[in-house]
Amino acid sequence: MTRIGVVGLGKLGLPVAICLALRGHQVIGYDKDPSRMSVAALSPLERAPGGPGRLADLVEPSLPLTFSSLEDLVRGSDCVLVAVETPHSAAHEGITPLPDARADFDYRPLLKAVGDLVAVADRPMEIGIISTVLPGTVRRLVLPLLGDHRLVYCPQFVAMGQVASDLFGPEFVLIGRDQTGPSVVSEVLAGLSDAPVFDVGIETAELTKVVYNTFVSAKVTISNVVQQMAHETGADAGDVFRIVRAADRRLMGPAYIGPGMADGGPCHPRDNIALSWLMRTTGAGADLFGDLMRSRQAYVEWLGARFVELAGSLPLVLLGTAYKPGTDLRTGSSAQLLATLLQLQGAQVTVVHTSADLATTLAAEEPAAFFVGCPEPEFVRRNWPEGSVVIDPWHVVEPAEGVTVHRLGANGKSTQGDASDPC
Ligand SMILES: NC(=O)c1ccc[n+]([C@@H]2O[C@H](COP(=O)([O-])OP(=O)(O)OC[C@H]3O[C@@H](n4cnc5c(N)ncnc54)[C@H](O)[C@@H]3O)[C@@H](O)[C@H]2O)c1
Repeated sequence: MTRIGVVGLGKLGLPVAICLALRGHQVIGYDKDPSRMSVAALSPLERAPGGPGRLADLVEPSLPLTFSSLEDLVRGSDCVLVAVETPHSAAHEGITPLPDARADFDYRPLLKAVGDLVAVADRPMEIGIISTVLPGTVRRLVLPLLGDHRLVYCPQFVAMGQVASDLFGPEFVLIGRDQTGPSVVSEVLAGLSDAPVFDVGIETAELTKVVYNTFVSAKVTISNVVQQMAHETGADAGDVFRIVRAADRRLMGPAYIGPGMADGGPCHPRDNIALSWLMRTTGAGADLFGDLMRSRQAYVEWLGARFVELAGSLPLVLLGTAYKPGTDLRTGSSAQLLATLLQLQGAQVTVVHTSADLATTLAAEEPAAFFVGCPEPEFVRRNWPEGSVVIDPWHVVEPAEGVTVHRLGANGKSTQGDASDPC
């Protein structure tokens, strides 16, 4: 049994507080709005775990859940979870036409809640932030308020109405923190289920939380476009969805989610560009496929900029332009697009198309900035000339003595990719 304080008893915080108490923890809840400090404030939508019943019906008078002041909460808790709102303006909620202007969430309620908590805390505590934030926010805005208190960023992957089921049976438990060693928040959350625990850096946890939602948005948006195109072309969208859902090797699974170059090959880019034409000619109103291709190109432009930036004064060498290992095919290859874009910019770049070209293209083993465009084994496991820089979007090049390896987006960590193998 752990004594847990929950600050912010809204749509998420109140069911979380109830669920923790149902698991035998001693929970104290506090909300600046007194009307939220009651089990009666629980939405009737919230279901009991794993069943059709209401979560509220599981609440008995003996439940170890009380509501109190922030001071009492701090006095009576071993750790505190903060689940206050991080709102957007109404113009950014998706219920009005999308404005040109974009904005971050409003963190004032979160910072006020953390500031109030720190002000009344008479000893160092562990504070778990549940509220959704953009990556970088906790370090920039929250950590400076914390002094000696330890912070854990612990977003919840729950859907409204299913908070209990999602808390007691999550796909995973995500803990973001700087420190290692025991963590009360981590033990409490991990103890609610047998789900795998990912204990990662704060920014990684922040990013995972928001991209999780984005993956869902991407699936929904593609499905919407399928429906639209079916309507316009005489296809049956329901049948398309049924068939696509059966594609559990490439579409409904982990394939294609990983570090690497942009999507490529003889099928994908050209199909997207043709579909972009179809969407334009059928008056669909938006151009998802054109937008995918623009994002693909922007990513390759970004890779090119990192290549030039990280190279410094070293000569540029692009290793591999095939769209995937084991072939010399460059049709639709994003590595070839990188070569094209660099050449259009006037950059001097030596392009080694395939590993068979290594001996003829790279005459001298002088230090250079090597960019791994295609992860052929001969490109990845090389005796890099001392003083070289290796730029690796695939996260496959091992560190080597006298050489600087940049795994783009890995921030010093080692991760393995599996995003390749397009069509
Ligand atoms: N609702 C969900 O299912 C869900 C799921 C995942 C993540 N989230 C994230 O969790 C956070 C909370 O979401 P929500 O839907 O519960 O919001 P909400 O608006 O329903 O609840 C927030 C609660 O915090 C209280 N609060 C604000 N400032 C406070 C303070 N200084 N001290 C004490 N209480 C304070 C408010 O009075 C309110 O009751 C958001 O960042 C949201 O994005 C929500």
